[in-house]
Amino acid sequence: MIYFDNAATSWPKPPGVSEAMVRFLEEVGANPGRAAHGRAVEAGRIVYEAREAVCELFQAPDPLRVVWSKNVTEALNLALRGLLRSGDHVVTSSMEHNSVMRPLRALERRGVEVTVVQCSPQGVLDPAGVERAIRPHTRLVALNHGSNVVGTLLPVAEVGTICRQHGVLLLVDAAQTGGAYPINVQSDQIDLFGFTGHKSLGGPMGTGGLIVGERVNEREMEPLMRGGTGSHSEYELQPDFLPDVYESGTLNAVGLAGLQAGVRWVLEEGVDAIRAHEVALTRQLIEGLRSLPGVTVYGSLDAELQIATVSFNVTGIEPSEVGLRLDEEYGILCRVGLHCSPAAHKTIGTFPAGTVRFGLNGFNTMDEVESALAAVEELAREAQ
Ligand SMILES: Cc1ncc(COP(=O)(O)O)c(C=O)c1O
Repeated sequence: MIYFDNAATSWPKPPGVSEAMVRFLEEVGANPGRAAHGRAVEAGRIVYEAREAVCELFQAPDPLRVVWSKNVTEALNLALRGLLRSGDHVVTSSMEHNSVMRPLRALERRGVEVTVVQCSPQGVLDPAGVERAIRPHTRLVALNHGSNVVGTLLPVAEVGTICRQHGVLLLVDAAQTGGAYPINVQSDQIDLFGFTGHKSLGGPMGTGGLIVGERVNEREMEPLMRGGTGSHSEYELQPDFLPDVYESGTLNAVGLAGLQAGVRWVLEEGVDAIRAHEVALTRQLIEGLRSLPGVTVYGSLDAELQIATVSFNVTGIEPSEVGLRLDEEYGILCRVGLHCSPAAHKTIGTFPAGTVRFGLNGFNTMDEVESALAAVEELAREAQ
């Protein structure tokens, strides 16, 4: 079996992730922040150390500004729905996932003005287009860092500088880049940074979070939910301090134990080393696919300018059939269709059928890429 569906969720998980989760379940088990006994304190320590690991990876200064969520979708909803009010203007790109587009379209019905900056058919965003879209009442720019359709990297650091110059906040969706591409939230000038635990951070599903920068006032960004936090229980009003203001209800501590192990593994391997291996795999895959008659590859076609996610189509066969045959006849697991990103497919010209997507990560090998290329070559030859 060849697992090329890492853009949806990563597999296998790094060594130590399942062990950390089993250890939590068998040896800790208590609710973090909800009691003073030793096990609860130990659970709280694990959750805090996970915040520290995330800060170390993304160069964020304060672990208490890491807010846990069940995935990046929840983190992005918190930022968008928490900040934007009727009369505000928000700028985004045409390469966004529905986890940004759908909340924005819902907010639009409530009086928030949305501008979608068009990317090129290769999925490339010109930062000048973002600057031109900014108006006096623009509150936020929301950007996908790495496209989950064609892998192109969007220029978040350049947009970060533009946002600071115009007094606008920058929200980044790092679902695809966290753990796979070097990110420094301070030097990239990112105010709100959404990450998901179950992709390149190596953690389990059900983990993710939002790093809330110093320019965001937690008294102005409304929580998505209110409830028990284990703090200030004498009050019926939600605490107004980080992270408790946004973390109501029991945390996924077992998942966070696994996420911490995943992030520690990324830190030990080094993002630069992971990235170098992924660039080599991506280059081999793009060049191999481009050399096949009847195969169209989308995106920048330059491994240095993208992450290890590659979209293609085979002339004469629907993407859904290619995916089915790759699975059933060759044991290659990938994803086909629109990848929850209709806007991105409209941008690259593959809406509504979509594409076949190979999502690679650091655990994949050059031999696997060779085998996959041979399989696609056979399918393409048969279809001609
Ligand atoms: C760019 C991007 N944003 C958001 C998401 C949503 O991630 P999650 O389902 O973990 O919330 C994904 C998932 O594929 C993604 O690729």
